[in-house]
Formats: sequence, structure tokens, C-alpha cells
Amino acid sequence: MIENLASNMATSPAFSVADIASSVGVGLRAPHYQAILAQQPKLGFLEVHSENFFGDGGQPLKYLHAFRELYALSLHGVGLSIGSVDAINLNHLQKLKRLADAIEPALISEHLCWVGVDGRFVNDLLPLPYTAESLRHVISHVTRVQDFLGRRISIENVSSYLEFVDSDIPEWAFIQEVADRAGCGILLDVNNIYVNAMNHDFDAKTYVDAIKPGSVTEIHLAGFQDTGEILIDTHGTRVSNEVWALYAYTLARLGPVPSLIEWDSDLPPLDVLLDEAKHADVIMQQAAANLLSSPPRHPMQRRTHAA
Ligand SMILES: [Fe+2]
Repeated sequence: MIENLASNMATSPAFSVADIASSVGVGLRAPHYQAILAQQPKLGFLEVHSENFFGDGGQPLKYLHAFRELYALSLHGVGLSIGSVDAINLNHLQKLKRLADAIEPALISEHLCWVGVDGRFVNDLLPLPYTAESLRHVISHVTRVQDFLGRRISIENVSSYLEFVDSDIPEWAFIQEVADRAGCGILLDVNNIYVNAMNHDFDAKTYVDAIKPGSVTEIHLAGFQDTGEILIDTHGTRVSNEVWALYAYTLARLGPVPSLIEWDSDLPPLDVLLDEAKHADVIMQQAAANLLSSPPRHPMQRRTHAA
């Protein structure tokens, strides 16, 4: 099946962001490849970790091209280390560009974090101090990445378990400022907002309220683990009721946004993932219906526009 699907890959047009508006996708993980190819479930898009497809050919890329025939794809990077004081790794960037040019993803994203320094790396997405200095640094790195790729990227808020005493800008203002000044999008992880709100004692709605609707290109939803002391962003359970409620609040404010179910550890059968996606879709459709039925907020602007 995979050879047949991948054989005409170069002729298919790419999906655009507009194609996945108001849609729900799932993170694509290798144990689900065969089930998704066989069932071809109704999903708006699939998201993969970019670094898993940096090799020269081979099975992973064959599969990715096969999925590209069926679904819009989102490339989600975990290793570019945009927040590090190290220069952006040119080799990594070249591989990302090669992949993006071959796949033509609807979305491409990285994290607002650092994963290493002085050439040494950790297997985690580490938070930044939110200061004017780090803001300038991140903006220059995002600009460098976008210029090199020739594409707009989106930056995702990460979960965290500590804060820097030097931070003097709220995280929500920091990420919005990065988006405004670098011209990138925001991948808003609603679960990460909730986890951080609980771990650092702020109101999750304050975060959502600070984000401009036009900046958000994608939303992530995932499960966390409650240790009793902190919440840990495990991506290993169903989305919690609290996060579903925050998701509904977020869509009511932003309008429908492409949304993704992320599940990385203790991977369940595909049906569980699809059930989560279905739940997100119900909330999305409700948000879209509410938007249509609500009166315009600025009637004077509407009249001017219509004229
Ligand atoms: Fe995420």
C-alpha cells in the first residue's frame, strides 16, 4: 500500500493553512501508521516531529509521502533550540528546509524553549527567562529561521516546572511580542497553559485573554499527570476536563483554529486518539456555530466595510 500511495507524490498539490481551518488532527506516531493508512479516518491534518524525517530517504520518508497524499501535514520541530544562546544550528536548519520543501506542509512549528547550550543537548524543552534581552534574542532567531526557510513558522508555548527570578515579562506577553515583532504565528498549547497556570499559580484565562486572535495558527491539546505537588505535561493520557473547558473558552475568544491531539507516551489504540479528536471537533463546531449566531461586535465597522 505504501509504495502505491507514495509513487505519485510529486504530482499532488500541497494543502494550505486554509484547507485545515476549523479542523482537528492528531499527532502521527509510527505504531499508528498502518491503521491510519488502512482506515483513512476523517481528520483535518496529521502532525509529525520534523526530526524523525531528516534522513536521506528510507521508510520514514516513504511513509510521510504516503500520508501526504491523504492528509494535510504539519511539521513540528523539537530540536531547533530557538531560545538557546548558541547560534541556530545550520545543519539542522538545512535538513528542516529540505524536508519542508519536499513535503510542503500546511504548518511548520517550533518551541519557545532551548534544548541545549555549548553543543550539549538535553532531551527536554527547557523554559526561558522572560526578559527584554531574551525577547530580542528569540525574535532574532525566529527571524533567522523564517528567512532561511522562506516560510512563516509558529512558536509553541512550553510547559514548565520552574520560573527564572530574572523574568519580568509575563509569558503570555512574551510570546505575543515574539509573534508581533518576528511576524511568526503562535501554536497555542492549551494543556501547557493549564499546566503552567497550576504550577506557577496564575489564571489560565489571563493567558488566553492576552493572545491576539489573528496570531494563533494552531492549538495543541494533550493530557497531563498530577503528582499531587505539580502537574507534569506527559502527553500520556486523555485531555482533562479542565483543559477541555479551557479549550472551549479559547475557541470562544479566538474563533475556530486548527487543533491537534498530541499523545506521545503510553500510546493508546488509534480509536482512543480518534475519540479525543471527535470531542475536540464537537467543541470546534460549537464555537463556529456560536460565532455565526452572535451579533457583530462593531456594527459601525461592519457597515463601513460593506459599503
Ligand atoms: Fe504541544
